[in-house]
Amino acid sequence: MCGIVGYIGFRKAYPILIEGLRRLEYRGYDSAGIALLENGKLDVYKQVGKVLDLEASIPKKEFAQTLGIAHTRWATHGAATQDNAHPHYSYSKDIAVVHNGIIENFMLLKRRLIALGYEFRSDTDTEVIVNLIESERKAGKVSLEKAVNRALQQLHGAYALAVLSKTEPEKLIVARKGSPLAIGLGKSYEEFFVASDAIPIIEYTQDLIYLNDNEVALLEKGKKVVVKDIFGKLKNYKIKHIDLDMNMVTKGAYEHFMLKEIFEQPETLSNTIFSHLDEKKDKIYFEGLESLKQQLIDANRIVIVACGTSWHSGLIGEYLIEELARVLVEVEYASEFRYRKPIIHKGDIVLAISQSGETADTLAALRYSKEQGAITFAICNVYGSSMAREADFVAYTYAGVEIGVASTKAFTAQVAVLSLLAITMGLENKQLDEKRGKELMTSLRMLPEMVAKTLEQDAAIQQIAKNFLEITSFLYLGRGINFPIALEGALKLKEISYIHAEGYPAAEMKHGPIAMIDENLPTLIVGTNKEYYEKIVSNAQEVKARKGTVVAVVSAGDRELSDMADYVFEVPEIADCLQPIITSIPLHLFSYHIAVMKGCNVDQPRNLAKSVTVE
Ligand code: F6R
Repeated sequence: MCGIVGYIGFRKAYPILIEGLRRLEYRGYDSAGIALLENGKLDVYKQVGKVLDLEASIPKKEFAQTLGIAHTRWATHGAATQDNAHPHYSYSKDIAVVHNGIIENFMLLKRRLIALGYEFRSDTDTEVIVNLIESERKAGKVSLEKAVNRALQQLHGAYALAVLSKTEPEKLIVARKGSPLAIGLGKSYEEFFVASDAIPIIEYTQDLIYLNDNEVALLEKGKKVVVKDIFGKLKNYKIKHIDLDMNMVTKGAYEHFMLKEIFEQPETLSNTIFSHLDEKKDKIYFEGLESLKQQLIDANRIVIVACGTSWHSGLIGEYLIEELARVLVEVEYASEFRYRKPIIHKGDIVLAISQSGETADTLAALRYSKEQGAITFAICNVYGSSMAREADFVAYTYAGVEIGVASTKAFTAQVAVLSLLAITMGLENKQLDEKRGKELMTSLRMLPEMVAKTLEQDAAIQQIAKNFLEITSFLYLGRGINFPIALEGALKLKEISYIHAEGYPAAEMKHGPIAMIDENLPTLIVGTNKEYYEKIVSNAQEVKARKGTVVAVVSAGDRELSDMADYVFEVPEIADCLQPIITSIPLHLFSYHIAVMKGCNVDQPRNLAKSVTVE
């Protein structure tokens, strides 16, 4: 949600910043801008639209500046207009700032600044920050660094900031509270790359500092980085070596990141599963879990908090943990959780699931639970993310960088980790007999291959998708552990193709949605469960009896549902409780092809952004 990039050093800043923006565009794409500083001259270019539009609007010339900041925006305060695009100047145009986050007390601060004579050019909260820095600098006759500290002490809310000033042109100041920020240490650790995540940086360096909340870093060309808190107290920092390769952040031969990420799943699932499961021995490891193992076994209750697609994997986790470990699980939308004053008992386990590890609502739910005495557990994909750092325990998914805004490979990796967790808990608390535990581990080892087999149907799925380009609404049904897959399939269709879609428990259809069924409302039925197969077949009959079109996801060799359905996606059969990983694949591909054929931008759907760092 908004991407920021910065550079200070010995290279030309412009190409680094533009390429960085391109790589961060998945975080927001309403407008983009860039500020370059040299010899007391501060140039700001900004443009409504994408990074491409920004580039097209900038005069074609060699930019020699070696210091600059840049931003790609997902609008919060103020519409997506030229004036609201970042970077924002201070009133005197001496200081420029890019910001990711929301300042909650910006109106109060703005009124104070207006009373001091400041005029505003935009509707943003960010312009309040830059003017506050300027007013603090003038009032106290202090350095830019001190003025930034004084301004930050007054802000309520979240920020990742990069600040530069004409009068102190050798400095880039960056700060963080609540929104992520990484500093890449270049040559001799004396040139610096700044970004909302590591993706724009890894081309230059793999040595990174992740700032903590309320930390400010002073970056000066040719000097070592200095990190302080917002009151000016020196802080120690750790340099992390990140192992990311460039192939992970480019589309390669694929037309879209989403398709690439769907096709990466045999590998990402293999990486995730075998990071926690021995390839030969029936042994599951969660590194570092030892100290919490007993509490996990003794837990009376697990509360899962997550948003969006990660919430769907949480629902699957509920089925898995309750079935295999017989521990009570509640799944909550993180965005609702803390606002209804939930009851958390000491010793409850709160499990936060998040690809980015930065989703503001999930992070807030995790922090709230920690304050209430819960043991916090995070399943995250991004190494070093806020949730990964703040939870008592983190289990990583090894899905690699996910750039497509619609989550796919991170979802299946989350479900794989939840399956391994449920099996471990079940074996430890003796609710799962060893034979079944071993069978499930064997099935998990075969999963990547089965996913590869499912992906072979891509062309057939594309053919079927062609029949649904004019449809305006779709119903998705599933039972038991496949119900969350119905929700997930519907979410993917609406978010990337803008076709209205609703996921429903199959049996609930007759309590309402059945009224909508006619020849214009197709129904996709996830019908692989062995346990409820006949009931699912009956639901399909009910749709057909009302002239509805049925698309069915069935297990290989299926007859009954396949004969009845108008279109069929066949998937390999596996234990019911592991089936969702496989049934999600045709649904993601189906949405992808519909959206592409309708001409939608699947990697950057309108109004969305990856990593929602505002509440
Ligand atoms: C949907 C999607 C979103 C995310 C949600 C949570 O395809 O990607 O619904 O799942 O914004 O994001 P994370 O998992 O980063 O917390």
